[in-house]
This record gives sequence, C-alpha cells and structure tokens, in this order.
Amino acid sequence: GPPAGDGALGAPGRWALPSFPGSCQGNSVERKIYIPLNKTAPCVRLLNATHQIGCQSSISGDTGVIHVVEKEEDLNWVLADGPHPPYMILLDGNLFNRSVLMQLKGTSRVSGLAVSIAKPNPPQGFSPGLKCPNDGFGVYSKDYGPQYAHCNTTVWNPVGSGLSYEDFDFPIFLLEDANETQVIKQCYQDHNVPRDGSGPEYPLCAMQLFSHMHAVTSTVTCMRRNSIQNTFSINPETVCDPLLDYNVWSTLQPINSSGKVDREQEVIIVATRIDSHSFFWNIAPGAESAVSSFVTHLAAAEALHKASDVHSLQRNVMFTFFQGETFDYIGSSRMVYDMEKDKFPLRLDNIHSFVELNQVALRNGSVLWMHTDPVSWMNESVQTQVRNLLDILSNSSVGANVTLQEAGYSQPLPPSSFQRFLRARHIPGVVLTDHQAAFQNRYYQSMYDTPENIRMQYPEGLSPEETLEYVTDTAKSLAEVATVVARALYRLAGGANNTSAIQADPKTVTRMLYGFLIKMNNSWFQSIIKPDLKGILGDVPQHYVAVSSPVNTTYLVHYVLANLTGTVVNLTKEECLNPDKTPNAEKELYDYAWVQGSLDPNSTTRVPYCVRSTVRLSKALSPAFELRQWGSTEYSTWTESRWKEIRARIFLVASKELEVSFRRTFSLPLPMLENTKSLRLTLSPKFTPSWGFACPSNSWCQQCR
Ligand SMILES: *[C@@H]1O[C@H](CO)[C@@H](O)[C@H](O)[C@H]1NC(C)=O
Ligand SMILES: *[C@@H]1O[C@H](CO)[C@@H](O)[C@H](O)[C@H]1NC(C)=O
Ligand SMILES: *[C@@H]1O[C@H](CO)[C@@H](O)[C@H](O)[C@H]1NC(C)=O
Ligand SMILES: *[C@@H]1O[C@H](CO)[C@@H](O)[C@H](O)[C@H]1NC(C)=O
Ligand SMILES: *[C@@H]1O[C@H](CO)[C@@H](O)[C@H](O)[C@H]1NC(C)=O
Ligand SMILES: *[C@@H]1O[C@H](CO)[C@@H](O)[C@H](O)[C@H]1NC(C)=O
Ligand SMILES: *[C@@H]1O[C@H](CO)[C@@H](O)[C@H](O)[C@H]1NC(C)=O
Ligand SMILES: *[C@@H]1O[C@H](CO)[C@@H](O)[C@H](O)[C@H]1NC(C)=O
Ligand SMILES: *[C@@H]1O[C@H](CO)[C@@H](O)[C@H](O)[C@H]1NC(C)=O
Ligand SMILES: *[C@@H]1O[C@H](CO)[C@@H](O)[C@H](O)[C@H]1NC(C)=O
Ligand SMILES: *[C@@H]1O[C@H](CO)[C@@H](O)[C@H](O)[C@H]1NC(C)=O
Repeated sequence: GPPAGDGALGAPGRWALPSFPGSCQGNSVERKIYIPLNKTAPCVRLLNATHQIGCQSSISGDTGVIHVVEKEEDLNWVLADGPHPPYMILLDGNLFNRSVLMQLKGTSRVSGLAVSIAKPNPPQGFSPGLKCPNDGFGVYSKDYGPQYAHCNTTVWNPVGSGLSYEDFDFPIFLLEDANETQVIKQCYQDHNVPRDGSGPEYPLCAMQLFSHMHAVTSTVTCMRRNSIQNTFSINPETVCDPLLDYNVWSTLQPINSSGKVDREQEVIIVATRIDSHSFFWNIAPGAESAVSSFVTHLAAAEALHKASDVHSLQRNVMFTFFQGETFDYIGSSRMVYDMEKDKFPLRLDNIHSFVELNQVALRNGSVLWMHTDPVSWMNESVQTQVRNLLDILSNSSVGANVTLQEAGYSQPLPPSSFQRFLRARHIPGVVLTDHQAAFQNRYYQSMYDTPENIRMQYPEGLSPEETLEYVTDTAKSLAEVATVVARALYRLAGGANNTSAIQADPKTVTRMLYGFLIKMNNSWFQSIIKPDLKGILGDVPQHYVAVSSPVNTTYLVHYVLANLTGTVVNLTKEECLNPDKTPNAEKELYDYAWVQGSLDPNSTTRVPYCVRSTVRLSKALSPAFELRQWGSTEYSTWTESRWKEIRARIFLVASKELEVSFRRTFSLPLPMLENTKSLRLTLSPKFTPSWGFACPSNSWCQQCR
C-alpha cells in the first residue's frame, strides 16, 4: 500500500513510522546511481555516567533533499517554506554555531547536516567545547575552594558553545575536502534551486548519511549491556568502549620500573596533555590546546638531558605526558590512582613539586603566566614551597625572551592535570600558560586549532624535507619557553652550576611542530620509530584519544622522547629486542627500541640501530572502569559508542513517492517494514555513474530474504 503520510509532507514529522526504501517486499535489487563522499568525518556518540552526547543516524541511514545554507536567511526554506522536507543541509562552516544548531534540533524538517570548513577560520572564534572544561573533575568543589568551583571566578573558555556536549538525533558530518563540497553544491545548483518562483522539479539531488550508533542513554546503561552480552550471549556484541590509551613518561635518572623508588627520593613532575578533541570523530589537530605544550615539554626534556651533571642532581625529574585529559582527566586521574594503590614505581609522597605546561604558543609579547592554587597559599608550608617554585622559574627567565608573571592569588588554577594531583595531596605546583584569565585560544577543542592558529608560517615553494627543517618563529618562541623550563627544572632538582649552557634547540622544536601538526610521515619520524610501526605515519596528524591503544600520537611521543633523551647503544638487533638476555642491559632501568634509522644517501635501505631510554607507558584508562563504577562522579566515565558503518553519499531521487522514506526514521525497537514502489531514476549526464544497490542496508535486505 501507499506509505503512511504520503503527500502530507512533513506532517507525521519526526515520529513517523519508519519505512525502509528497497525493503524486502519491494524491488530490492533496484539500481540507483550514487556518488560516495570520500572525505568526511562523522560526529559520533559518546556517553558518560548520566548522558549521551553526539550524533547518529537511523539504522538504515538518513536521507533528505539537499539544501545549501550559506546565510541565516537560507534557513527559512528548510524550516518553513521548502516543499520537500526533510532536508539534508549543506551548512557553511561560518553558520555552524549554537543558535543555528538549536533551531535545527527543534524541527522535524531536517534529516541531517553536512558542514563545510570555514576558510579563513571564523574570526569571532569557534569552540564546541565547554565554557568551563572538565568542570566537576578538577580540585575545586564544595569541599575545596567552593568559591572557585564551576568557573565562578574565571570562565576559561568564554567562546565555548558546548556543541560537542549536546545530543543530536540526526547525523552530522564534516566535509573535509572543498572539492567534494563543490560537487554537492553543483548537484544542488543543477537540480534543487527553486526557479521562476515555483519549487524545484524532480529529479532532486539528495544526500544520505549513515552513522547509526549502537549505544544509548549512558555509560551505566551501555556497560551493563556489554557485561550482560559478554556473560550470557553466545554472540557477544559490545555496544560501547571506555576511552582508553597510555600515558608516556620517563625520568631524568633511570628508576627501577618494577620496584619502588626510596621514600626519601624526591621527584619533580613536569606534565602536559597530549590529546585533543573537536566536534567530529578523529578530527583533533590540537595545535594550541595540546601540541604547543607537549612539544615544548619534549624540547625541555632534551635540553635538560644534555646538561653535564644531570646524573649527580639531588632530585629526579619525571617527564609525564597524559592521554585522555580532554575527557575529565583520564590519564592523570589514573596515574594518581596507581600511585595511591602502589601500582606505580613512585608514590605521591615522592613528588617534590609539579610543573605543568598548558597552552603556551599564543603569548602576548613575551609574557608567560604562572598559575597557582589559591587554596594552597593558605597552608604555610605549601606556601613556602610554591613561593620557592615561582622564584626559581622567574630567575630562570633572566636573559631569555620570556617574562614570567604571576596570574594572581585570587584566581583558581585553569583546567589542568595538576588539579588531579592536588585532589590527593598538598603538592606545590605551578601551571604555565599564555593566558592570564580566559584562554587566548579562540579555537579550543575545535577543527580550527591548526598550525595557522599558532601562527606557523613557511615560505612558499619549500619541499617537504625543507619544510621539516625550516625554523619558524613559532618554533623559536616555544624553544625560548622550553629553555626557561629546562633551566628551572635543573635548579629545582638541586643543580648549582651556571645554567646558560642549558638551551632548547629550535631545530628540534620546528621538526616536532611539523611532524605533530602537518605531516607525520616525514623522514625524521620515519627514522626514529620501530619498523613495525611505520603504518602509523599517516599524513595529517590527529590527537584524539582512542578506545583501543596506543594511538599514533602516543607512539610518536614515546619515540620522539626516546630519540631526544635516550642514547644509541651498540647492541645487535637480537640483543636489543631481548634485553633480559643481554648482560648489563639493566632491563628494569631502561627501555630498548630497535628503530628504523635514516635512509642511506642515494639508497633505499635504512641503517637501523638500538636506542636505550627511560621512556615507559602507563595505562590511561579511567579508574571508574577498573572499579566497575560506571556511574562514578569521582572519575571520568566517558565511553564511545560502537557503530557498523559510517558513510555518506549523494544521488538523484526520481519522484515524490520516495519522499516518505526520506523522513527521518528512528531506531524504534521493532521497525515496521513497508512496501516501497519501485522507482526509476532520471540520470543526470553530469554524474559519472557508479552503480549501487538501492537496498540501503545489507542487514535489512538479508533479514527479509
Ligand atoms: C555528562 O555529560 C553531560 C553533558 O556534558 C553533563 O551535563 C553531565 O553533568 C555529565 N555527567 C557527569 C556525571 O559528569
Ligand atoms: C581540487 O580541485 C582543484 C582544481 O580542480 C585541484 O587543483 C586540487 O588539487 C583539488 N584538491 C583536492 C584536495 O583534491
Ligand atoms: C569518491 O570516489 C569515487 C571513486 O574514486 C569517485 O567516483 C567519486 O566521484 C568521489 N566522490 C566525490 C564527491 O568526489
Ligand atoms: C628492581 O626491583 C626489583 C623488585 O624490587 C628487584 O628484584 C630488582 O633487583 C631491581 N633491579 C635493579 C636493577 O635494581
Ligand atoms: C599543609 O600541607 C601539609 C603537606 O605539605 C599537610 O601535611 C598539612 O596537613 C597541611 N595543613 C593544613 C592546615 O591543611
Ligand atoms: C657542575 O657541577 C659539578 C658539581 O656539582 C662539577 O663537578 C662540574 O664540574 C660542573 N660542571 C660544569 C660544566 O660546570
Ligand atoms: C610514508 O612515506 C613513504 C615515502 O617517504 C612511503 O613509502 C610510505 O608509504 C608512506 N607511509 C604511509 C603510511 O603513508
Ligand atoms: C594512525 O595509524 C593508523 C594505523 O595504525 C593509520 O591507519 C592511520 O591513518 C593513522 N592516523 C593518522 C591520522 O595518520
Ligand atoms: C635521534 O634522531 C637523529 C636523527 O634521525 C639521529 O641522528 C640520532 O642519532 C637519534 N638519537 C637517538 C638517541 O636515537
Ligand atoms: C659494536 O660492537 C661490535 C661487536 O660487539 C664491535 O665489533 C664494534 O666495534 C662496536 N662498535 C662500536 C662503534 O663500538
Ligand atoms: C648521490 O647521487 C648524486 C646524484 O646522483 C651524487 O651527486 C652524489 O654524489 C651521490 N651521493 C653519494 C653519497 O653517493
């Protein structure tokens, strides 16, 4: 029979009974011309203890007639006037904001969204993150500096729209390639633009987005379902996975990783985060929010390791790179937990002080701000130590083009890993940033936090190899910060010699910026990783934490740190890969890596070698999952839903009869299958045919056969 709601366009709205084009009783081998979109990134569903956020399509994908929205007035067609709802919107990146998205959320006339990238970056800023990042998981609470909780004193990310934390029941995709965006616009121009005052005629250009998500409601719900499935089902099907990766750490002086350091041993922790995020899955350039600081940290580690008397310093230094910090401090909360539970070579009591590098690339002039915890200032003994820390840092900047200033005692710490340590102990610490109050970064946790955001500029016409080596102003500036940090660490560790020889290398910094922001697959990264890891060197780096690990960023931070702080040792491949069988290898103290080495000049062979370092990985999985407390408010509970397929395509629809099947179909528990009449497509000569089956989802076709 005729599908429900036929003709009464949009009338049954979003709660229409779902119908499936090409379902079994119809003509399931109907052929249709599809153009797949090859360069897209979806918004996916994430869940925490209490909520689901992100996006999804119905199980068979969502379809709609394309409408291009380039200015706010264009929305009227979609929201009110257009005769062919629901619409798939091609949204200009400059309109991808909270007010537009909330209007679209409230209507049944929209079946999905494809967002183009604004060029240049939106000048007013764009951050889909929260105004108060990681609120509730830092140190400030009703029991600790309640006046500072919930960003009461300082709103760190004022441009944050919180879009990443909204729940959308339609698919949203990013169009990464401007040429593909152009293909869609052309199809729209040719078929969908209203002409001569009347609405457009069939055939119309339509888009279909697939991003159905398996997990619903919350982490509590999906983890329960996982565990039931895994316990009782013969065919276990996990619906969500905890965000999970590894922290990377190393020490200036080697420590026994399978033992415990002495109680008296004092260690200074240097920390940064290495992960970032955006609205879209695995789009996380994080130039300012993560890369600027971890690159500076790596450069400081290299500089300090080169100091001549590091082995006789009274205190040790631990270089710590946290994963998953974006999602309520996964990495740091796990390390604190492991230290408390004696599952880490250090105890919290070994920590002498804590120095964190946050966002440091957008300094105003030369100023770098030192943030401290106002509550710690009330404790006299801690206050003395914090004062000492600030003085050492200030003195270390003498002669450098870095002016260290105190952000003030009336202000709490910005979102930082250090807060997770403060939750556990009165540790003296400082967080270094380029902002005194609100972030300088106007693109925090967004796709626009790119090399341009930290003003990286290269002359035109350089080859990739020349670009790798070209020292940018950004690299020079970050090297200055790294120099100050390295000198301060030397003093904090008890070093008494003149520090003028401790100097971070702008050449190293520039290579790291290139590798972590522009092109991972460069000759330096190729030469310093293990041969079996060469597949991780994709082109444009992304720094999203994973669910199966380690992710590319983690590996690369590991091997860059090993390269910068380790030593080349004369071991054979056999010895390097089996240090436990190698005399004097001291496996508990060192990590050994057999790395690819550089290409021989004029040849295709590499000269591999063995690198010894103190670099280690430690798990960055929230303790909430270790403890099976999926409703925890103490620890991060973020999980990522699983999905079967993510894809996007455009095609022409022949007639109105199909429209009902475009209506957004919701994943009701038992979808009713309906007849769809066979349809015939008028082929546009503009399309290169690529044949596909009309049956939208193989699983549906198969179920009925
Ligand atoms: C989960 O995330 C939502 C959306 O950001 C937030 O409102 C809620 O407070 C979070 N729940 C917990 C327990 O943190
Ligand atoms: C886009 O198209 C232009 C002109 O056709 C071409 O020069 C360019 O390489 C294409 N870009 C991509 C990313 O394919
Ligand atoms: C995606 O790739 C396919 C196969 O190479 C090609 O036919 C199609 O035109 C591409 N899609 C777009 C939008 O360019
Ligand atoms: C490291 O610690 C383990 C466990 O305490 C101990 O057995 C081993 O001898 C130590 N190794 C070194 C090199 O100190
Ligand atoms: C001050 O800090 C020290 C640790 O450095 C701690 O032992 C002591 O309890 C703190 N005092 C107060 C009043 O909190
Ligand atoms: C640094 O100090 C140590 C003693 O702590 C001394 O033995 C050494 O010669 C000094 N090195 C330099 C380069 O000044
Ligand atoms: C990286 O680049 C090399 C050429 O320098 C190439 O052979 C290799 O396939 C690339 N690796 C990846 C993962 O793209
Ligand atoms: C990360 O590594 C995987 C292989 O493990 C590779 O397929 C992927 O392209 C890499 N990601 C990026 C952004 O390069
Ligand atoms: C680090 O990499 C550089 C360039 O590939 C190489 O010359 C150097 O020997 C490496 N150092 C270590 C310790 O691996
Ligand atoms: C490395 O070790 C081999 C054998 O153990 C030895 O023949 C060679 O001279 C050593 N090379 C260097 C540079 O020490
Ligand atoms: C590499 O090849 C170039 C040109 O083919 C030649 O000029 C150069 O001398 C060669 N270098 C080596 C180390 O063989």
